[in-house]
Amino acid sequence: MEMPNGSQKNVMELFRLDGRVALVTGGSKGLGRSIAQALAEAGADVAVVSRTLADCRKAANEIAEQSGRRAAAFAVDVNKSDDLKKAAAEIEASLGPVDILVNNAGINIRGPIDELSESDFEAVMATNVTAPFLCSKIFGPKMVERGWGRVINLGSIMSAVSLPGRAPYAASKAAIMGLTRTLALEWATKGVTVNAICPGPFATEMNKQLLNDPAKYKDFVSKIPMGRWGELSEIAGAALFLASDAAAFVTGSALFVDGGWTAQ
Ligand SMILES: NC(=O)c1ccc[n+]([C@@H]2O[C@H](COP(=O)([O-])OP(=O)(O)OC[C@H]3O[C@@H](n4cnc5c(N)ncnc54)[C@H](OP(=O)(O)O)[C@@H]3O)[C@@H](O)[C@H]2O)c1
Repeated sequence: MEMPNGSQKNVMELFRLDGRVALVTGGSKGLGRSIAQALAEAGADVAVVSRTLADCRKAANEIAEQSGRRAAAFAVDVNKSDDLKKAAAEIEASLGPVDILVNNAGINIRGPIDELSESDFEAVMATNVTAPFLCSKIFGPKMVERGWGRVINLGSIMSAVSLPGRAPYAASKAAIMGLTRTLALEWATKGVTVNAICPGPFATEMNKQLLNDPAKYKDFVSKIPMGRWGELSEIAGAALFLASDAAAFVTGSALFVDGGWTAQ
């Protein structure tokens, strides 16, 4: 395949991430864990970030062992901007400049609006929107300086549609698309792309309420055209694509990984 500079490359080479450094917030478990593993398997060194050091260490050790790449653990609350800035310096000192930022850490507080408090709403917005803003502000401009970078935000099917009882979460996942599109435009000519992955239901801790309730679980399955929940490994390809040179001309977009939920 002919590249923009006239050189020839096999298309599979475009998916390699050798020499890149990736940071995955919430990389200790769930979708973030699967994404961190995928990026390492493709050749990136990975910083695994969450509030729980033991979980980050466990994930980082397993990822390093399985991929042969460097993986390091950092305990940070992404809602605390001073801690984030301090951690950013530690991550860069340990692994090098961050080329790929995955804003994956997220929370969900469900309930009808009359049962939700202002602080419930603010907590969801803080983790799901303000933290990606802060992380993008810390790492994005440095990617711009170096002329290459990837920011991948975790949206949701709730970035496009909703369900009753999801006011804070759906508001946050719609907002993350606004952030995604805006930064995509700001950095469009700088080699830095900004995209979102919008998953449908995956069996993670976030969904344990649904997973532990057979009626709710079945109701969700009935809404998914493919008739099943996603497997954690099924998020990996989307993340790798958006993180790689294969997606060089993709920015400001949302990639739905939802078994067809939003096609209806
Ligand atoms: N699972 C789904 O079906 C689904 C569907 C659509 C979108 N998503 C989105 O995908 C992302 C990952 O979801 P998941 O289901 O994999 O979640 P999860 O299994 O609950 O994992 C969440 C991760 O985020 C970390 N985290 C939460 N708050 C944090 C904070 N303040 N600072 C640092 N780390 C924090 C958690 O670690 P600690 O608690 O130890 O900090 C954990 O590593 C989220 O943005 C979510 O909204 C998930």
